[in-house]
Amino acid sequence: MWLLNLKPIEAASRLLSGLSPDPVDCFESFAPVNIALCKYWGKRDRDLNLPVTDSLSISLGECGSRTRVCWLPDASADEVFINGCQVEADTDFYRRVVCHIDLFRFLVPGYLRVETVNDVPTGAGLASSASGFAALTRAVAGLMGVRLEPQVMSLLARLGSGSACRSIYSGFVRWRKGVRADGMDSYAQPLSAHWPTLRVGLLTLTAEAKKTGSRQGMRRTQETSVLYNSWAEQVGQDMEKLERALAVQDFDGLGQVVEHNAMSMHATMLSSWPPLLYWLPDSVKALQRVWELREEGASVYATMDAGPNIKLLFESQTEPLVRDCFPDLQVIEPFA
Ligand code: DP6
Repeated sequence: MWLLNLKPIEAASRLLSGLSPDPVDCFESFAPVNIALCKYWGKRDRDLNLPVTDSLSISLGECGSRTRVCWLPDASADEVFINGCQVEADTDFYRRVVCHIDLFRFLVPGYLRVETVNDVPTGAGLASSASGFAALTRAVAGLMGVRLEPQVMSLLARLGSGSACRSIYSGFVRWRKGVRADGMDSYAQPLSAHWPTLRVGLLTLTAEAKKTGSRQGMRRTQETSVLYNSWAEQVGQDMEKLERALAVQDFDGLGQVVEHNAMSMHATMLSSWPPLLYWLPDSVKALQRVWELREEGASVYATMDAGPNIKLLFESQTEPLVRDCFPDLQVIEPFA
């Protein structure tokens, strides 16, 4: 048994009350992975996943999570499957999925079977929880037969996992932290910038799930790192620089902010106690290769999330060179 967290339930009932559900038997949905160009790392409210700072991301087109939900007649609990494997009921992940379904359950009571297939490894710092909770939000709303505005969808997805609120949209997305205690002004919005030559490369060094999840890691950093406040200050400046770079499509301007933001987040993590280091020796090797490429004149930049895997940012004209250096790279065209 776990303690019922009332704050998200209250928030969801405010967003969903007054709707007339019209349930269907099964519903399938998709949401893209999003990679933060300016990271969300730290919360002003842990129950509602309200962030300390704004953040900005790029969604990865067709790369994401596909989630199918169906009613389970006569069942006494939800069933959850990821990539074909059943998730044990005593795991933290199962609990988070069930708590998310609980947000909607007052509309139509009953238990569900949830089947999710992720295009990227689960729990390895490749943002599978963002696309997963966004797809789950869409799927459960669809199953219950309620039509929701994207803003409401984003608010609900945030209650499952903060970064999931950005996976409701494609392209560049900004999540404003908001100031309200109830979080009703903390949701993501799409940006109009369109950048067809932009490429994101996923360098999966390990598909193994990380030992310290982002939720736990974020909390430890915020509570113990003396660098945390300067990190939050830097995010404010980085957001402005990123929006300027996007407005004039200045790729090097964008890349520099993205990489600097990620490295500063990881430096802040490392200054936590106990220290938090998501990197593997191969992450360092890959970063050093990126820095060499830049010294040789290539415009390629790296970012990393709560895991050892690396995401590269470059433009179409640099793609052959980058593929040559990183033969295992999965190249995504976010605006294809
Ligand atoms: C490093 O959204 O997974 O990927 O809100 O606790 O579920 P919770 O955290 P989560 O954190 C994502 C952290 C990050 C940066 C980012 O995506 O902005």
